Amino acid sequence: MKKEPRRTRSPFKTVSPAMDLTRARPLERKVVLITGASRGIGAAAAKRIARAGGVVVVNYHNSHEQAQAVLREVEEEGGKGMLFRADVTQRNQVEEMARAVRESFGAVDILVNNAYFPFEVNFLHEISWEGVEEAISKELAAFYNCTRAFVPAMMEKKKGKIIVISTRLAQQPLPRMGAYAAAKSALETMADTMALELGPNGIAVNVVTPAFTLTDASAMMPDEFRERVRKSRPLQKHLYPEDVAGTIAFLASDEADMMTGTHILITGGSHLQL
Ligand SMILES: NC(=O)c1ccc[n+]([C@@H]2O[C@H](COP(=O)([O-])OP(=O)(O)OC[C@H]3O[C@@H](n4cnc5c(N)ncnc54)[C@H](OP(=O)(O)O)[C@@H]3O)[C@@H](O)[C@H]2O)c1
Repeated sequence: MKKEPRRTRSPFKTVSPAMDLTRARPLERKVVLITGASRGIGAAAAKRIARAGGVVVVNYHNSHEQAQAVLREVEEEGGKGMLFRADVTQRNQVEEMARAVRESFGAVDILVNNAYFPFEVNFLHEISWEGVEEAISKELAAFYNCTRAFVPAMMEKKKGKIIVISTRLAQQPLPRMGAYAAAKSALETMADTMALELGPNGIAVNVVTPAFTLTDASAMMPDEFRERVRKSRPLQKHLYPEDVAGTIAFLASDEADMMTGTHILITGGSHLQL
């Protein structure tokens, strides 16, 4: 009997134009919703994804003018998009956003769970219970609300991606940041569980874990701290929102189709240090 040649290439996915990273617009026609995209990492991801051809839904809460500026830049990149003001911790607002997006663009292909919620900075033995509860409940409610709103359409299509932005503090804590770190640890566990639960439906869930990044959220830290962090990294550079945006765009692309349940560190190497 003739022996079957052993396969060394996927029978489903040989290099196709859709997978070719050298292609200018690998996210062409993908609908990508980014929570908290008016500023910081979310805004940088919106522009990066637009450059790759994605249709971007710029969610924001209070910063209307900044969100408008992001949408303008999305359009300058040749992309399409829309703005939607919604407090993602509120289920009814997220559902309204889902309806509006469906009417304009159809189903969301990629959800980027990114919004940042300021928290009480304090030692865990001194922090108010309200401070702990608020950090955890906002972080988890936002993710819960968005997955409830956007996963059903992904399940129908048997394809979808969820990208969760966590923080390195979830594994490498800092004093007085405990409420935030605990909230993000719980968020990561939700993401991993969802990767298991949704995998059979063709939905991938991955976590991006940046270290200290220069945005409004981190602006409260003194210059001396910023410099110390920079110098302590093996790469000795600051991390900017744009340094995180490329990884988000990669995870959104077909190149990452077989990645789920992964946690990608963007730290400039600081995770290697004691
Ligand atoms: N910066 C860092 O050092 C760092 C490090 C690791 C991980 N991260 C993570 O990266 C993500 C982005 O953080 P960032 O530093 O880019 O934050 P940022 O610059 O402060 O931006 C925060 C964004 O979240 C939005 N937002 C806040 N509350 C919201 C709500 N209730 N509903 C909808 N949107 C809301 C804001 O919208 P409006 O302005 O319109 O209200 C804004 O667009 C967060 O998940 C954060 O935990 C940040």
